[in-house]
Amino acid sequence: MKHIKNICCIGAGYVGGPTMTVIANKCPEIDVTVVDINARRIADWNSENLNELPVYEPGLPELIKETRGRNLFFSTEVDAAIDKADMVFISVNTPTKTYGKGKGQAADLKYIELCARNIAKVATTDKIVVEKSTLPVRTAQAIKNILDNTGNGVNFEILSNPEFLAEGTAIDDLLNADRVLIGGDETESGQEAKNALSWVYEHWLPKERVLQTNVWSSELSKLVANAFLAQRVSSINSISALCEKTDANVAEVSRAIGFDSRIGPKFLNASVGFGGSCFQKDILNLVYIAKSFGLPEVADYWEQVILMNDYQKRRFAENIITTLYNTVSGKKIAFYGWAFKKDTNDTRESAAIYVADALLEEQAEIVVYDPKVTAERIYADLDYLGTRTSEENRRLLTVVTDPLEAIQNAHAVAVLTEWDEFKSYDWAAIFEAMLKPAFVFDGRRILDSEKMDTLGFKYYKIGES
Ligand code: NAD
Ligand code: UDX
Repeated sequence: MKHIKNICCIGAGYVGGPTMTVIANKCPEIDVTVVDINARRIADWNSENLNELPVYEPGLPELIKETRGRNLFFSTEVDAAIDKADMVFISVNTPTKTYGKGKGQAADLKYIELCARNIAKVATTDKIVVEKSTLPVRTAQAIKNILDNTGNGVNFEILSNPEFLAEGTAIDDLLNADRVLIGGDETESGQEAKNALSWVYEHWLPKERVLQTNVWSSELSKLVANAFLAQRVSSINSISALCEKTDANVAEVSRAIGFDSRIGPKFLNASVGFGGSCFQKDILNLVYIAKSFGLPEVADYWEQVILMNDYQKRRFAENIITTLYNTVSGKKIAFYGWAFKKDTNDTRESAAIYVADALLEEQAEIVVYDPKVTAERIYADLDYLGTRTSEENRRLLTVVTDPLEAIQNAHAVAVLTEWDEFKSYDWAAIFEAMLKPAFVFDGRRILDSEKMDTLGFKYYKIGES
Protein backbone atom coordinates (compact mmCIF):
# COMPACT_ATOMS: atom_id res chain seq x y z
CA MET A 1 0.00 0.00 0.00
CA LYS A 2 1.17 3.52 -0.82
CA HIS A 3 2.38 5.32 2.29
CA ILE A 4 2.01 9.07 2.16
CA LYS A 5 5.15 11.01 3.11
CA ASN A 6 4.27 14.56 2.21
CA ILE A 7 0.96 16.35 2.56
CA CYS A 8 0.11 19.84 1.36
CA CYS A 9 -3.13 21.52 2.46
CA ILE A 10 -4.32 24.54 0.49
CA GLY A 11 -6.30 26.80 2.82
CA ALA A 12 -5.21 27.60 6.39
CA GLY A 13 -8.66 28.34 7.76
CA TYR A 14 -10.93 26.91 10.45
CA VAL A 15 -10.78 23.50 8.81
CA GLY A 16 -7.32 23.35 7.21
CA GLY A 17 -5.48 24.61 10.31
CA PRO A 18 -6.90 22.30 13.00
CA THR A 19 -7.27 19.25 10.71
CA MET A 20 -3.69 19.37 9.52
CA THR A 21 -2.42 20.02 13.03
CA VAL A 22 -4.06 16.80 14.19
CA ILE A 23 -2.81 14.81 11.18
CA ALA A 24 0.76 16.06 11.70
CA ASN A 25 0.56 15.44 15.41
CA LYS A 26 -0.65 11.86 14.99
CA CYS A 27 1.52 10.99 11.97
CA PRO A 28 5.05 12.11 12.88
CA GLU A 29 6.53 10.44 9.78
CA ILE A 30 4.43 12.62 7.43
CA ASP A 31 5.50 16.19 6.65
CA VAL A 32 2.47 18.45 6.53
CA THR A 33 2.60 21.93 4.98
CA VAL A 34 -0.43 24.20 5.20
CA VAL A 35 -0.39 26.98 2.63
CA ASP A 36 -2.53 30.05 2.07
CA ILE A 37 -2.48 33.12 -0.13
CA ASN A 38 -3.41 35.21 2.90
CA ALA A 39 0.02 36.17 4.25
CA ARG A 40 -1.37 37.61 7.48
CA ARG A 41 -3.12 34.33 8.30
CA ILE A 42 0.07 32.38 7.74
CA ALA A 43 2.06 34.84 9.88
CA ASP A 44 -0.51 34.38 12.66
CA TRP A 45 -0.26 30.58 12.40
CA ASN A 46 3.51 30.99 12.79
CA SER A 47 3.19 33.43 15.69
CA GLU A 48 5.37 32.73 18.74
CA ASN A 49 2.47 33.88 20.89
CA LEU A 50 -0.01 31.02 20.77
CA ASN A 51 -2.82 33.38 21.79
CA GLU A 52 -2.46 35.00 18.37
CA LEU A 53 -3.32 31.92 16.31
CA PRO A 54 -5.95 32.95 13.74
CA VAL A 55 -8.35 30.25 14.94
CA TYR A 56 -9.39 29.97 18.57
CA GLU A 57 -10.05 26.32 19.47
CA PRO A 58 -9.62 24.68 22.87
CA GLY A 59 -6.64 22.28 22.77
CA LEU A 60 -5.22 23.69 19.53
CA PRO A 61 -2.32 25.76 20.98
CA GLU A 62 -0.97 22.72 22.85
CA LEU A 63 -0.93 20.60 19.69
CA ILE A 64 0.63 23.40 17.66
CA LYS A 65 3.35 23.78 20.26
CA GLU A 66 4.21 20.09 20.04
CA THR A 67 4.07 19.81 16.27
CA ARG A 68 4.88 23.10 14.54
CA GLY A 69 8.40 23.14 13.15
CA ARG A 70 8.68 19.36 13.67
CA ASN A 71 6.54 18.05 10.81
CA LEU A 72 3.91 20.80 10.60
CA PHE A 73 4.65 23.95 8.62
CA PHE A 74 2.63 27.01 7.64
CA SER A 75 3.72 28.80 4.49
CA THR A 76 2.74 31.14 1.68
CA GLU A 77 4.89 29.17 -0.79
CA VAL A 78 1.89 27.47 -2.36
CA ASP A 79 3.53 26.12 -5.53
CA ALA A 80 6.56 24.59 -3.82
CA ALA A 81 4.38 22.81 -1.25
CA ILE A 82 2.07 21.38 -3.93
CA ASP A 83 4.91 20.06 -6.02
CA LYS A 84 6.59 18.36 -3.09
CA ALA A 85 3.42 16.63 -1.84
CA ASP A 86 2.08 13.21 -2.76
CA MET A 87 -1.31 14.16 -1.31
CA VAL A 88 -2.89 17.63 -1.68
CA PHE A 89 -5.93 18.64 0.38
CA ILE A 90 -8.08 21.46 -0.92
CA SER A 91 -9.58 23.20 2.10
CA VAL A 92 -10.45 26.62 0.76
CA ASN A 93 -13.67 28.52 1.37
CA THR A 94 -16.78 27.74 -0.70
CA PRO A 95 -19.17 30.58 0.20
CA THR A 96 -22.62 31.14 -1.21
CA LYS A 97 -22.46 32.92 -4.58
CA THR A 98 -23.14 36.65 -4.39
CA TYR A 99 -23.40 37.21 -8.15
CA GLY A 100 -24.60 35.67 -11.41
CA LYS A 101 -26.39 32.35 -11.86
CA GLY A 102 -27.33 30.73 -8.58
CA LYS A 103 -26.71 34.02 -6.69
CA GLY A 104 -27.73 33.64 -3.04
CA GLN A 105 -27.91 29.83 -3.20
CA ALA A 106 -25.25 28.01 -5.21
CA ALA A 107 -21.76 27.49 -3.81
CA ASP A 108 -19.12 29.77 -5.29
CA LEU A 109 -16.50 27.40 -6.65
CA LYS A 110 -14.04 29.97 -7.95
CA TYR A 111 -11.48 29.32 -5.21
CA ILE A 112 -11.73 25.56 -5.80
CA GLU A 113 -11.19 25.98 -9.52
CA LEU A 114 -8.19 28.26 -8.93
CA CYS A 115 -6.69 25.58 -6.69
CA ALA A 116 -7.27 22.86 -9.30
CA ARG A 117 -5.66 24.97 -12.01
CA ASN A 118 -2.73 25.76 -9.75
CA ILE A 119 -2.18 22.09 -8.88
CA ALA A 120 -2.33 21.18 -12.57
CA LYS A 121 0.16 23.91 -13.41
CA VAL A 122 2.84 23.06 -10.88
CA ALA A 123 2.56 19.29 -10.37
CA THR A 124 5.43 17.30 -11.84
CA THR A 125 4.67 14.01 -10.04
CA ASP A 126 1.49 11.93 -9.51
CA LYS A 127 -0.79 13.18 -6.76
CA ILE A 128 -3.84 12.28 -4.79
CA VAL A 129 -6.05 15.37 -4.62
CA VAL A 130 -8.46 15.41 -1.68
CA GLU A 131 -11.56 17.62 -1.58
CA LYS A 132 -11.75 18.67 2.07
CA SER A 133 -13.94 21.69 1.37
CA THR A 134 -17.70 21.10 1.31
CA LEU A 135 -18.69 20.90 -2.34
CA PRO A 136 -21.82 20.38 -4.40
CA VAL A 137 -22.32 16.85 -5.59
CA ARG A 138 -20.36 16.14 -8.80
CA THR A 139 -17.69 18.82 -8.24
CA ALA A 140 -14.99 16.15 -8.28
CA GLN A 141 -15.75 15.66 -11.96
CA ALA A 142 -15.03 19.31 -12.70
CA ILE A 143 -11.78 19.17 -10.73
CA LYS A 144 -10.79 16.03 -12.61
CA ASN A 145 -11.49 17.63 -15.97
CA ILE A 146 -9.31 20.62 -15.13
CA LEU A 147 -6.48 18.48 -13.78
CA ASP A 148 -6.54 16.03 -16.67
CA ASN A 149 -6.79 18.66 -19.39
CA THR A 150 -4.40 21.30 -18.16
CA GLY A 151 -1.79 19.26 -16.30
CA ASN A 152 1.70 18.15 -17.21
CA GLY A 153 0.61 14.61 -18.02
CA VAL A 154 0.93 13.38 -14.43
CA ASN A 155 -1.76 11.17 -12.90
CA PHE A 156 -4.29 12.60 -10.43
CA GLU A 157 -6.67 10.62 -8.25
CA ILE A 158 -9.51 12.70 -6.80
CA LEU A 159 -11.00 11.83 -3.43
CA SER A 160 -13.80 13.44 -1.49
CA ASN A 161 -13.11 13.60 2.24
CA PRO A 162 -15.58 16.07 3.79
CA GLU A 163 -14.89 17.39 7.25
CA PHE A 164 -17.43 16.94 10.06
CA LEU A 165 -15.71 18.87 12.85
CA ALA A 166 -17.74 21.49 14.67
CA GLU A 167 -16.05 24.70 15.74
CA GLY A 168 -15.33 25.06 19.44
CA THR A 169 -14.83 21.29 19.72
CA ALA A 170 -12.72 20.83 16.57
CA ILE A 171 -9.75 19.11 18.22
CA ASP A 172 -11.88 16.66 20.15
CA ASP A 173 -14.06 16.02 17.09
CA LEU A 174 -10.95 15.28 15.00
CA LEU A 175 -9.31 13.06 17.60
CA ASN A 176 -12.49 11.10 18.29
CA ALA A 177 -14.35 11.39 14.99
CA ASP A 178 -17.62 9.41 14.83
CA ARG A 179 -16.61 8.58 11.29
CA VAL A 180 -14.34 9.64 8.47
CA LEU A 181 -15.82 9.59 5.01
CA ILE A 182 -13.71 8.88 1.96
CA GLY A 183 -15.25 8.88 -1.50
CA GLY A 184 -13.32 7.85 -4.57
CA ASP A 185 -13.42 6.00 -7.85
CA GLU A 186 -14.07 2.29 -7.77
CA THR A 187 -11.14 1.63 -10.13
CA GLU A 188 -7.98 -0.06 -8.87
CA SER A 189 -6.08 3.23 -8.62
CA GLY A 190 -9.09 4.88 -6.97
CA GLN A 191 -9.21 2.12 -4.37
CA GLU A 192 -5.48 2.49 -3.77
CA ALA A 193 -5.90 6.22 -3.20
CA LYS A 194 -8.79 5.66 -0.76
CA ASN A 195 -6.68 3.17 1.18
CA ALA A 196 -3.74 5.59 1.27
CA LEU A 197 -5.93 8.29 2.85
CA SER A 198 -7.57 5.77 5.15
CA TRP A 199 -4.09 4.76 6.36
CA VAL A 200 -3.45 8.36 7.45
CA TYR A 201 -6.56 8.38 9.66
CA GLU A 202 -5.89 4.88 10.97
CA HIS A 203 -2.93 6.32 12.86
CA TRP A 204 -5.43 7.30 15.54
CA LEU A 205 -8.90 6.06 14.56
CA PRO A 206 -10.16 2.47 14.36
CA LYS A 207 -10.42 1.28 10.77
CA GLU A 208 -14.18 0.57 11.15
CA ARG A 209 -14.80 4.29 11.52
CA VAL A 210 -13.39 5.05 8.10
CA LEU A 211 -16.24 4.71 5.63
CA GLN A 212 -15.50 4.36 1.95
CA THR A 213 -18.09 5.29 -0.68
CA ASN A 214 -18.19 6.50 -4.25
CA VAL A 215 -17.32 10.17 -4.75
CA TRP A 216 -20.86 11.38 -5.27
CA SER A 217 -22.27 9.75 -2.14
CA SER A 218 -19.48 11.31 -0.13
CA GLU A 219 -20.03 14.81 -1.52
CA LEU A 220 -23.78 14.59 -1.01
CA SER A 221 -23.55 13.06 2.48
CA LYS A 222 -21.77 16.13 3.78
CA LEU A 223 -24.57 18.46 2.64
CA VAL A 224 -27.19 16.06 3.98
CA ALA A 225 -25.53 15.68 7.40
CA ASN A 226 -25.54 19.46 7.87
CA ALA A 227 -29.10 19.75 6.59
CA PHE A 228 -30.32 17.12 9.09
CA LEU A 229 -28.49 18.77 11.99
CA ALA A 230 -29.80 22.23 11.13
CA GLN A 231 -33.27 20.78 10.67
CA ARG A 232 -33.25 19.58 14.28
CA VAL A 233 -32.37 23.07 15.51
CA SER A 234 -35.09 24.68 13.39
CA SER A 235 -37.58 22.05 14.51
CA ILE A 236 -36.99 22.70 18.20
CA ASN A 237 -36.87 26.46 17.60
CA SER A 238 -40.29 26.31 15.96
CA ILE A 239 -41.55 24.52 19.06
CA SER A 240 -39.93 27.16 21.30
CA ALA A 241 -42.32 29.73 19.83
CA LEU A 242 -45.25 27.47 20.60
CA CYS A 243 -43.99 26.87 24.15
CA GLU A 244 -43.93 30.61 24.80
CA LYS A 245 -47.63 30.77 23.95
CA THR A 246 -48.74 27.68 25.87
CA ASP A 247 -46.90 27.50 29.20
CA ALA A 248 -44.99 24.48 28.00
CA ASN A 249 -41.23 24.60 28.61
CA VAL A 250 -39.04 23.84 25.62
CA ALA A 251 -36.32 22.23 27.76
CA GLU A 252 -38.87 19.80 29.15
CA VAL A 253 -40.17 19.05 25.67
CA SER A 254 -36.61 18.48 24.36
CA ARG A 255 -35.87 16.16 27.23
CA ALA A 256 -39.11 14.26 26.82
CA ILE A 257 -38.69 13.66 23.10
CA GLY A 258 -34.91 13.14 23.34
CA PHE A 259 -35.41 10.15 25.63
CA ASP A 260 -36.91 8.34 22.65
CA SER A 261 -33.86 6.49 21.37
CA ARG A 262 -35.09 6.96 17.81
CA ILE A 263 -34.94 10.74 18.26
CA GLY A 264 -31.97 11.04 20.65
CA PRO A 265 -31.08 13.96 22.93
CA LYS A 266 -28.49 15.89 20.93
CA PHE A 267 -29.01 19.08 18.93
CA LEU A 268 -32.32 19.89 20.58
CA ASN A 269 -31.29 23.09 22.34
CA ALA A 270 -33.61 25.93 21.43
CA SER A 271 -31.70 29.11 20.68
CA VAL A 272 -31.82 32.53 19.05
CA GLY A 273 -31.06 30.69 15.79
CA PHE A 274 -28.24 28.70 14.32
CA GLY A 275 -25.26 30.45 12.78
CA GLY A 276 -21.85 29.44 11.52
CA SER A 277 -20.34 29.26 8.09
CA CYS A 278 -21.83 25.88 7.19
CA PHE A 279 -25.49 25.24 7.95
CA GLN A 280 -27.11 27.99 5.92
CA LYS A 281 -24.60 27.80 3.07
CA ASP A 282 -24.86 24.04 2.73
CA ILE A 283 -28.66 23.95 2.87
CA LEU A 284 -28.89 26.72 0.27
CA ASN A 285 -26.57 24.65 -1.84
CA LEU A 286 -28.77 21.57 -1.39
CA VAL A 287 -31.83 23.65 -2.30
CA TYR A 288 -30.09 24.89 -5.43
CA ILE A 289 -29.02 21.42 -6.47
CA ALA A 290 -32.54 20.03 -5.94
CA LYS A 291 -33.97 22.86 -8.07
CA SER A 292 -31.37 22.32 -10.77
CA PHE A 293 -32.41 18.69 -11.02
CA GLY A 294 -36.09 19.67 -11.34
CA LEU A 295 -37.12 18.73 -7.80
CA PRO A 296 -38.92 21.86 -6.48
CA GLU A 297 -40.71 19.99 -3.66
CA VAL A 298 -37.40 18.74 -2.31
CA ALA A 299 -35.96 22.26 -2.57
CA ASP A 300 -38.94 23.82 -0.74
CA TYR A 301 -38.77 21.23 2.01
CA TRP A 302 -35.17 22.08 2.91
CA GLU A 303 -35.54 25.82 2.37
CA GLN A 304 -38.05 25.84 5.21
CA VAL A 305 -35.22 25.06 7.66
CA ILE A 306 -33.63 28.39 6.77
CA LEU A 307 -36.89 30.32 6.76
CA MET A 308 -37.59 29.03 10.28
CA ASN A 309 -34.11 30.12 11.38
CA ASP A 310 -34.65 33.61 9.97
CA TYR A 311 -37.98 33.76 11.78
CA GLN A 312 -36.33 32.81 15.08
CA LYS A 313 -33.71 35.59 14.85
CA ARG A 314 -36.37 38.12 13.85
CA ARG A 315 -38.70 36.96 16.61
CA PHE A 316 -35.98 37.44 19.23
CA ALA A 317 -35.24 41.00 18.07
CA GLU A 318 -38.93 41.89 17.82
CA ASN A 319 -39.57 40.58 21.31
CA ILE A 320 -36.88 42.90 22.69
CA ILE A 321 -38.50 45.86 20.97
CA THR A 322 -42.04 45.02 22.08
CA THR A 323 -41.01 44.26 25.64
CA LEU A 324 -39.07 47.52 25.93
CA TYR A 325 -42.39 49.35 25.50
CA ASN A 326 -42.29 49.27 21.70
CA THR A 327 -39.28 51.51 21.37
CA VAL A 328 -35.57 50.95 21.74
CA SER A 329 -34.58 54.27 20.23
CA GLY A 330 -31.73 55.72 22.31
CA LYS A 331 -31.88 52.76 24.71
CA LYS A 332 -28.70 50.97 25.68
CA ILE A 333 -28.75 47.25 25.06
CA ALA A 334 -25.75 45.18 26.12
CA PHE A 335 -24.92 42.16 23.97
CA TYR A 336 -23.24 39.31 25.78
CA GLY A 337 -21.61 37.34 22.98
CA TRP A 338 -21.15 37.88 19.26
CA ALA A 339 -19.63 34.53 18.16
CA PHE A 340 -22.04 32.05 16.54
CA LYS A 341 -21.45 29.61 19.42
CA LYS A 342 -19.18 29.37 22.44
CA ASP A 343 -15.47 28.51 22.33
CA THR A 344 -14.84 29.99 18.90
CA ASN A 345 -13.85 33.42 17.60
CA ASP A 346 -15.80 32.74 14.40
CA THR A 347 -18.76 35.03 13.74
CA ARG A 348 -19.85 33.95 10.28
CA GLU A 349 -23.66 34.03 10.03
CA SER A 350 -23.89 34.56 13.78
CA ALA A 351 -27.43 35.30 14.98
CA ALA A 352 -25.99 38.29 16.88
CA ILE A 353 -25.31 40.11 13.61
CA TYR A 354 -28.93 39.96 12.49
CA VAL A 355 -30.38 40.75 15.90
CA ALA A 356 -28.06 43.77 16.15
CA ASP A 357 -29.01 44.90 12.66
CA ALA A 358 -32.73 44.79 13.50
CA LEU A 359 -32.22 46.73 16.74
CA LEU A 360 -29.94 49.31 15.12
CA GLU A 361 -32.66 49.94 12.55
CA GLU A 362 -34.77 51.02 15.54
CA GLN A 363 -31.96 53.35 16.70
CA ALA A 364 -30.92 51.25 19.69
CA GLU A 365 -27.48 51.82 21.18
CA ILE A 366 -25.68 48.51 21.41
CA VAL A 367 -22.62 47.70 23.49
CA VAL A 368 -21.02 44.36 22.71
CA TYR A 369 -18.83 42.21 24.91
CA ASP A 370 -17.47 38.91 23.57
CA PRO A 371 -14.48 37.19 25.17
CA LYS A 372 -12.86 36.21 21.86
CA VAL A 373 -14.22 38.36 19.04
CA THR A 374 -12.41 41.57 18.07
CA ALA A 375 -14.05 44.95 17.46
CA GLU A 376 -12.62 44.90 13.94
CA ARG A 377 -14.50 41.66 13.20
CA ILE A 378 -17.78 42.93 14.68
CA TYR A 379 -17.76 46.12 12.60
CA ALA A 380 -16.79 44.15 9.50
CA ASP A 381 -19.81 41.86 10.05
CA LEU A 382 -22.17 44.81 10.30
CA ASP A 383 -20.62 46.78 7.45
CA TYR A 384 -20.91 43.71 5.22
CA LEU A 385 -24.71 43.82 5.54
CA GLY A 386 -24.70 47.27 3.97
CA THR A 387 -27.80 48.34 5.94
CA ARG A 388 -26.22 51.64 7.03
CA THR A 389 -22.94 53.48 6.66
CA SER A 390 -19.95 52.26 8.52
CA GLU A 391 -19.82 55.59 10.43
CA GLU A 392 -23.37 55.01 11.62
CA ASN A 393 -22.53 51.46 12.71
CA ARG A 394 -19.63 52.85 14.76
CA ARG A 395 -21.78 55.60 16.23
CA LEU A 396 -24.60 53.29 17.33
CA LEU A 397 -22.59 50.24 18.38
CA THR A 398 -19.56 50.11 20.63
CA VAL A 399 -17.38 47.17 21.59
CA VAL A 400 -15.90 46.79 25.07
CA THR A 401 -13.47 44.34 26.64
CA ASP A 402 -15.03 44.42 30.11
CA PRO A 403 -18.43 42.74 30.61
CA LEU A 404 -19.31 45.11 33.45
CA GLU A 405 -18.63 48.18 31.36
CA ALA A 406 -21.16 46.89 28.82
CA ILE A 407 -24.07 46.90 31.27
CA GLN A 408 -23.54 50.27 33.02
CA ASN A 409 -26.87 52.09 32.76
CA ALA A 410 -28.13 49.56 30.22
CA HIS A 411 -31.86 49.01 29.76
CA ALA A 412 -31.38 45.40 28.76
CA VAL A 413 -28.89 42.58 28.32
CA ALA A 414 -29.26 40.18 25.41
CA VAL A 415 -27.36 36.89 25.66
CA LEU A 416 -26.41 35.91 22.12
CA THR A 417 -23.67 33.32 22.71
CA GLU A 418 -23.58 30.60 25.37
CA TRP A 419 -20.07 31.40 26.70
CA ASP A 420 -19.64 29.58 30.04
CA GLU A 421 -18.32 32.69 31.79
CA PHE A 422 -21.70 34.43 31.43
CA LYS A 423 -23.21 31.90 33.83
CA SER A 424 -20.80 32.70 36.64
CA TYR A 425 -21.08 36.50 36.49
CA ASP A 426 -22.23 38.37 39.57
CA TRP A 427 -25.74 39.01 38.27
CA ALA A 428 -26.69 40.84 41.47
CA ALA A 429 -23.99 43.42 40.70
CA ILE A 430 -25.15 43.57 37.10
CA PHE A 431 -28.70 44.26 38.29
CA GLU A 432 -27.45 47.11 40.47
CA ALA A 433 -25.59 48.76 37.59
CA MET A 434 -28.49 48.61 35.11
CA LEU A 435 -31.43 50.97 34.67
CA LYS A 436 -34.71 49.67 36.09
CA PRO A 437 -36.69 47.76 35.16
CA ALA A 438 -33.67 45.66 34.17
CA PHE A 439 -34.42 43.29 31.31
CA VAL A 440 -32.47 40.19 30.31
CA PHE A 441 -33.25 38.39 27.05
CA ASP A 442 -31.58 35.00 27.13
CA GLY A 443 -31.23 33.71 23.59
CA ARG A 444 -29.21 30.72 24.76
CA ARG A 445 -31.16 29.60 27.81
CA ILE A 446 -28.04 29.55 29.99
CA LEU A 447 -29.24 31.48 33.04
CA ASP A 448 -31.36 30.27 35.92
CA SER A 449 -34.90 31.65 35.64
CA GLU A 450 -35.69 31.47 39.33
CA LYS A 451 -32.46 33.18 40.36
CA MET A 452 -32.90 35.91 37.78
CA ASP A 453 -36.48 36.55 38.92
CA THR A 454 -35.40 36.66 42.56
CA LEU A 455 -32.68 39.20 41.77
CA GLY A 456 -35.39 41.42 40.32
CA PHE A 457 -34.72 41.07 36.60
CA LYS A 458 -37.47 41.00 34.00
CA TYR A 459 -36.09 37.80 32.57
CA TYR A 460 -37.09 36.34 29.18
CA LYS A 461 -35.82 32.94 28.17
CA ILE A 462 -36.36 31.50 24.68
CA GLY A 463 -38.98 28.76 24.81
CA GLU A 464 -40.57 29.65 28.16
CA SER A 465 -43.54 31.87 28.81
P1 NAD B 1 -11.86 29.69 5.87
O1 NAD B 1 -12.41 30.85 5.15
O2 NAD B 1 -11.61 29.79 7.35
O3 NAD B 1 -10.44 29.27 5.22
C1 NAD B 1 -10.24 29.14 3.85
C2 NAD B 1 -8.82 29.64 3.52
O4 NAD B 1 -8.54 29.32 2.16
C3 NAD B 1 -8.64 31.15 3.66
O5 NAD B 1 -7.62 31.42 4.61
C4 NAD B 1 -8.27 31.61 2.24
O6 NAD B 1 -7.30 32.66 2.22
C5 NAD B 1 -7.69 30.34 1.64
N1 NAD B 1 -7.68 30.32 0.18
C6 NAD B 1 -8.71 30.62 -0.67
N2 NAD B 1 -8.30 30.44 -1.95
C7 NAD B 1 -7.02 30.02 -1.91
C8 NAD B 1 -6.07 29.67 -2.91
N3 NAD B 1 -6.39 29.69 -4.20
N4 NAD B 1 -4.83 29.29 -2.52
C9 NAD B 1 -4.50 29.26 -1.20
N5 NAD B 1 -5.37 29.57 -0.21
C10 NAD B 1 -6.61 29.95 -0.56
O7 NAD B 1 -12.81 28.47 5.55
P2 NAD B 1 -13.10 27.17 6.48
O8 NAD B 1 -14.09 27.50 7.52
O9 NAD B 1 -11.81 26.56 6.86
O10 NAD B 1 -13.85 26.25 5.42
C11 NAD B 1 -13.15 25.61 4.38
C12 NAD B 1 -14.08 24.59 3.75
O11 NAD B 1 -14.40 23.57 4.72
C13 NAD B 1 -15.42 25.14 3.26
O12 NAD B 1 -15.79 24.46 2.10
C14 NAD B 1 -16.37 24.78 4.39
O13 NAD B 1 -17.68 24.63 3.94
C15 NAD B 1 -15.82 23.46 4.86
N6 NAD B 1 -16.12 23.14 6.26
C16 NAD B 1 -16.02 24.09 7.23
C17 NAD B 1 -16.26 23.75 8.56
C18 NAD B 1 -16.16 24.77 9.66
O14 NAD B 1 -16.53 24.45 10.78
N7 NAD B 1 -15.67 25.97 9.41
C19 NAD B 1 -16.56 22.43 8.90
C20 NAD B 1 -16.63 21.48 7.89
C21 NAD B 1 -16.41 21.85 6.57
C1 UDX C 1 -21.56 22.31 11.91
C2 UDX C 1 -21.66 20.77 12.02
O1 UDX C 1 -22.05 20.41 13.36
C3 UDX C 1 -20.33 20.13 11.68
O2 UDX C 1 -20.46 18.71 11.68
C4 UDX C 1 -19.90 20.61 10.30
O3 UDX C 1 -18.64 20.06 9.98
C5 UDX C 1 -19.83 22.13 10.26
O4 UDX C 1 -21.10 22.68 10.63
P1 UDX C 1 -20.55 24.22 13.46
O5 UDX C 1 -21.35 25.12 12.57
O6 UDX C 1 -19.11 24.52 13.68
O7 UDX C 1 -20.61 22.72 12.89
O8 UDX C 1 -21.24 24.15 14.92
P2 UDX C 1 -22.54 23.40 15.48
O9 UDX C 1 -22.21 22.89 16.81
O10 UDX C 1 -23.12 22.46 14.53
O11 UDX C 1 -23.55 24.62 15.70
C6 UDX C 1 -24.12 25.32 14.61
C7 UDX C 1 -25.10 26.34 15.13
O12 UDX C 1 -26.27 25.71 15.64
C8 UDX C 1 -24.55 27.21 16.26
O13 UDX C 1 -24.98 28.55 16.09
C9 UDX C 1 -25.18 26.60 17.49
O14 UDX C 1 -25.29 27.50 18.55
C10 UDX C 1 -26.54 26.18 16.95
N1 UDX C 1 -27.16 25.09 17.73
C11 UDX C 1 -26.60 23.86 17.75
C12 UDX C 1 -28.34 25.34 18.40
O15 UDX C 1 -28.87 26.44 18.38
N2 UDX C 1 -28.92 24.30 19.09
C13 UDX C 1 -28.38 23.06 19.15
O16 UDX C 1 -28.97 22.18 19.80
C14 UDX C 1 -27.18 22.83 18.45
